[in-house]
Amino acid sequence: MNKVILDVDTGVDDALAIIYGIESKKIDFLGITTVSGNVPLDMTEKNTRKVLKLIGREDINVYPGADRPLLREAEYEYRVHGSDGIGNALDDMEIEHAKEEQFAPDFIVEQAKKYKGELTLIMVGPLTNLALALRKEPKIAGWIKEVIVMGGLVSKAGKGNSLPNSEFNIYADAEAAAIVFHSGLEVTLVSLDVTLQTYMKLEHIEELKGTKYYDFVLNSTEVFRSFSKKRYGTNGCALHDPLTIGYFLDRSYIETEKYFVDVETLSSLGYGQTICDFRNLWEKEPNVNICVNVDAERFIQDFINILKQA
Ligand code: BDR
Ligand code: CA
Repeated sequence: MNKVILDVDTGVDDALAIIYGIESKKIDFLGITTVSGNVPLDMTEKNTRKVLKLIGREDINVYPGADRPLLREAEYEYRVHGSDGIGNALDDMEIEHAKEEQFAPDFIVEQAKKYKGELTLIMVGPLTNLALALRKEPKIAGWIKEVIVMGGLVSKAGKGNSLPNSEFNIYADAEAAAIVFHSGLEVTLVSLDVTLQTYMKLEHIEELKGTKYYDFVLNSTEVFRSFSKKRYGTNGCALHDPLTIGYFLDRSYIETEKYFVDVETLSSLGYGQTICDFRNLWEKEPNVNICVNVDAERFIQDFINILKQA
């Protein structure tokens, strides 16, 4: 089976990505690493372990990583994910104390070395842990098979979700993103350009009625859906993070093209903007696969079906 480390800042859609990935039964998760992002690190870790308990896979270890961005102060996204990060859907769930103390970037380096050429990283939060791992051991760029990142927007200027031209995960730690983009790693950016086409609406959720995840999906996404309705006019939960898993499982969901992509770290208006040189004006080697098309309806339906069958 495919070996994967999933890096999360759980988060409503991170939780859905964890469930989808595990329930697909096609991925060997070596561990899940957590990072400060949607909510502070201790909460992303707790949420991740609660979700694993809900699934019944507490045997998967959780490795806490960076508790802040490389340089800037952390900015959280309570408006989208609720006061606890998962829409308070698992408030009553008790969890054991953490078992794993290994620092996430160390775990990434260790596993990249152990599984040279075999390991995929799926990153659905700010890229701080991977940037720290690269700083510690730059050779991992040659050892890791590929990195699938939920982040950025490249062709829909003005349609960002943190700044008009910036997406949250990249905006949350643009310096880390710059390190990752220029590391030589094989990076695919599953950006807002495609994820904003994958809204899970109430009618999709209702298909889960009577199944294991109905209550969690309905309750955890409530704040997210009403925020989306107010802000973007759609009462739905964009499946940002699950789409990275979808792409890992089935390449035919998304069409990609490779270009030179850089990230703005200096400007206040454009901090965290992912700039794609579609016309090769800078004459630089392409470094990032970007997503130009998504088969959204098929992906959403397949996602629902995996949850339904659980
Ligand atoms: C990304 O930011 C977070 O709020 C979500 O979990 C997702 O990873 C979307 O911009
Ligand atoms: Ca996330």
